[in-house]
Amino acid sequence: MNLILMGLPGAGKGTQAEKIIDKYGFPHISTGDMFRAAMAKGTAMGLKAKSFIDQGALVPDEITNGIVKERLAEKDTEVGFLLDGFPRTIEQAEALDGILAELGKKIDAVIDINVKEDVLVDRLAGRFICKTCGATYHKLFNPPKVEGTCDRCGGHEFFQREDDKPETVKNRLAINVKNSQPILAYYKAKDLLHEVDGDRDIQDVFVDVEKIIEA
Ligand code: AP5
Ligand code: MG
Repeated sequence: MNLILMGLPGAGKGTQAEKIIDKYGFPHISTGDMFRAAMAKGTAMGLKAKSFIDQGALVPDEITNGIVKERLAEKDTEVGFLLDGFPRTIEQAEALDGILAELGKKIDAVIDINVKEDVLVDRLAGRFICKTCGATYHKLFNPPKVEGTCDRCGGHEFFQREDDKPETVKNRLAINVKNSQPILAYYKAKDLLHEVDGDRDIQDVFVDVEKIIEA
C-alpha cells in the first residue's frame, strides 16, 4: 500500500507515522527527516536545505523532488511506502505523479491530519525527540512513560528541533497553510483524500488512520 500522510506542521504526521510503521512495516519516507539527516552529516545538499529550513521556508523542488525520486526507486518500497511531508505543493504532486508513473506505482490513499493552527503552536513549542531512535514526544501531551527515558529504545538523550523556535514556526505555518488547500483539493479531485480529526488523543487518531488503511 502506498500512502501519503499530510497535515500542517505539528499535526502529528511523524507521531502517526511511527505507529503505522510499527504496525504495518511500510518504509517511512519523511522529506523533513531526510533533510535533517543530510544536515547532521553536513553534506552539500544538507547545507543547502538548511538555509531554507532555518527560515521555515520550503526547500526548492529540484532538491526535494530529487531525493524523493531516488528514495522511491529503492527496493524496500516494493511492499509499499508512507510519504510524510511530501508533496506539499501542486508542483510537487505533479512531479510525484511522474515519478510514480515511471516506477509503475500509484498512490492508494492520502490521509490528511486536520488540526487547528492555535493548537499547532503549542504542539511544536513542547516537542522533543529521542537522539537515538527519533521517537517524538511532547512535554505535556505525550511525555515518555518514564521521565528522561525513551519508550521506544531506552535512550536518555533528547533534542528540540531548530525550526521549532517561535519565529520560525510562524513562517512555517503561514507557508504550509497557504499551500494546503490547493493540494488537498488536488487529491480530493482524484478521490484519494481521507480527512482525520487530529485534535484528539494520539491513539484515537490512530484508530481512524487504521480504519482508512484497512479499508
Ligand atoms: P517536516 O519535518 O516535515 O516538518 P513539518 O511539516 O513542519 O511537520 P512536523 O514534523 O513539524 O510535524 P508533524 O506533523 O510530524 O508532528 P509530530 O508528529 O512531530 O519538514 C521540516 C522542513 O523541511 C520544512 O519546514 C521544509 O523547510 C522542509 N521540507 C520538508 N518537506 C518538504 C517538501 N515536501 N518541500 C519542501 N520543503 C520541505 O507532532 C508534533 C508534536 O505534537 C509532538 O510533540 C507530538 O508528541 C505532539 N502530538 C502529536 N500528535 C498529537 C495529538 N494527537 N495530541 C497531542 N499532541 C500530539
Ligand atoms: Mg514530522
